[in-house]
Amino acid sequence: MARMSDHRFQVDLTGIIDLLSHHLYSGPQVFVRELLQNAVDAIRARRAEDGKFEGRIEVELAGGSTPTLVFSDNGIGLSEKEIHSFLSTIGSSSKRGDLLERKVDFIGQFGIGILSCFMVSDEIAVVTRSCRSGSRPQEWRGRGDGTYSVRTLEAEVEPGTRVYLRARPGAEEWFDSEKVAGLIRRFGGFLPEPVLLRRGDSLVRLSQEEAPWNISSQDRLLELGRGAFEEEFVDVVPLRSTAGGVQGAAFVLARSPNLAARRSDRVYLKNMLLSDSAEGLLPDWAFFVRCIVNTTRLRPTADRESFFEDDLLDRTREELGGSLRDWLVDLARRHPDRLRALIRLHHLAFKTLALHDEEFFRIVAGWLPFETSLGEMSLQEALKHAPEIRYALTVDEFRQVMRVAQAENLCVINGGYVHGAELLEKYGELFPDVPVSAVDASTITRELKELDLKDQESAHEFLLTADAVLRRFDCRADLKSFQPSDLPALYSIDETAAFHRSVQESKDVSSEHWGAVLDALRETPEESRLATLCFNFSNPLVTRLCKVKNRDRVALFVQTLYVQALLLGHRPLRPPEYKILNDGLLRLLELGLEARP
Ligand SMILES: Nc1ncnc2c1ncn2[C@@H]1O[C@H](COP(=O)(O)OP(=O)(O)O)[C@@H](O)[C@H]1O
Ligand SMILES: [Mg+2]
Repeated sequence: MARMSDHRFQVDLTGIIDLLSHHLYSGPQVFVRELLQNAVDAIRARRAEDGKFEGRIEVELAGGSTPTLVFSDNGIGLSEKEIHSFLSTIGSSSKRGDLLERKVDFIGQFGIGILSCFMVSDEIAVVTRSCRSGSRPQEWRGRGDGTYSVRTLEAEVEPGTRVYLRARPGAEEWFDSEKVAGLIRRFGGFLPEPVLLRRGDSLVRLSQEEAPWNISSQDRLLELGRGAFEEEFVDVVPLRSTAGGVQGAAFVLARSPNLAARRSDRVYLKNMLLSDSAEGLLPDWAFFVRCIVNTTRLRPTADRESFFEDDLLDRTREELGGSLRDWLVDLARRHPDRLRALIRLHHLAFKTLALHDEEFFRIVAGWLPFETSLGEMSLQEALKHAPEIRYALTVDEFRQVMRVAQAENLCVINGGYVHGAELLEKYGELFPDVPVSAVDASTITRELKELDLKDQESAHEFLLTADAVLRRFDCRADLKSFQPSDLPALYSIDETAAFHRSVQESKDVSSEHWGAVLDALRETPEESRLATLCFNFSNPLVTRLCKVKNRDRVALFVQTLYVQALLLGHRPLRPPEYKILNDGLLRLLELGLEARP
């Protein structure tokens, strides 16, 4: 006679299941993962007692009006007492205390996995027999309403566990044999334990694929990566971390990735898929790779989609970054051409890495590509041009000096892009023989050729007038001769003057009261408040302007050239400057018309 007893879970299950399915599990498909994980753990527990034991998991599906699924393992099984404490107590797991100390390779740990079956089935039936001698088989029926029953069976069954699920209305799709097989392959394809799908009399093997972390052939790995991520890779790097018990491979992308997207990796926990898109396992600078790794030590979060952000994860991240770095360092030594190609493809990642790692910096710095006034070139090439590094701090400053520097054959590097200036300064620190300095339009202007005495004399009147006109814009006039000759004037402003100008701009747009505060701020001496507009004596228009005697006309041209130079330098215009843009241009047009016979 079967002994039967009815019980309730300790809490109302309906609410909990609802909570889990909406907030913890990413979808009904996870029930396959949880059944698989439980079966694998049961087998590992049994093997911990009997080293030679061979585990096996079998899955069988039946269609019909109510499709069913049977998930069997020949693992450790459960005794009646264990059923009450582990299967029927929410949040209670057998994988604690002494068992974990004995280093059994369990994957589960939270004691809520089994509840995921209620997403697809209203009732879970479990027939189980503990492998301990004298144990009788038990049948447990758990229902979504929170009740469960346990009875002892008379029949003879082998030790192990069978879980029976019946599709709840609307969840039939999760009982499709192709679908379930696909999910098992996805979650458990790399499990060393055999997982078999029964189809009539035949069995299809779904697991025991060769795992990437056990493959040493580069070609096979690359092929595997291509299949897994559906994209091409140019290289593959072995990854190791002792702290996190991680083994795996980093696949080097053949394209430069979208930097706005968070990089993510495919992560397995004890050979079972944890996540397709785990974030934060590698340092951020590793965005030129995608990884497949297996960990035996990192702790998964309860949703089993990522890891706890703890000390262990930090150390693991560092070690994995180290694996990647060592490979790059080795590449620089042995295959510089491959490194160069790689840097061209992923230069941003390389610049970031270089900033964080001195040794790496010394090795790759020469190859890092930069935009310069003489075209794009590597730092090595730039240093061949001149044995010093001169760079513009911002993209705007670079744009301002670029044309002059180019025409004057000066190599100025654009330090305005991500990490640019930082890298160049670091270069100076690590290679003290190479002078590194920031330049801007003022520096360049000062270095331009002075006019000879005769020209200075002929342009004297013009310079005086121009200077007087420009003072009302906090600017002084200068006159030099430089290339390119089609550039009539070069506007430059140093830091103090730029600050003064931005104070003025704020004052233009803000209230009077605020203006007074700003007034107090701008107590800089007159001279250092001035920007410079350096006219180009090599420019034909300027040469002619120097000969014009009509002061009003000179003033008009000077103002217009001033505004044009501001616009070229991407400077925002202040209201009086806008006025010039309007009125000045109209006046110039008028003059043009008047000049016609
Ligand atoms: N196939 C199985 N064989 C033996 N015990 C099982 C099996 N499935 C579940 N159990 C028991 O039920 C407990 C709860 O399972 P579960 O809710 O998935 O939590 P977890 O796997 O995180 O421990 C497990 O700890 C285990 O003791
Ligand atoms: Mg489990």
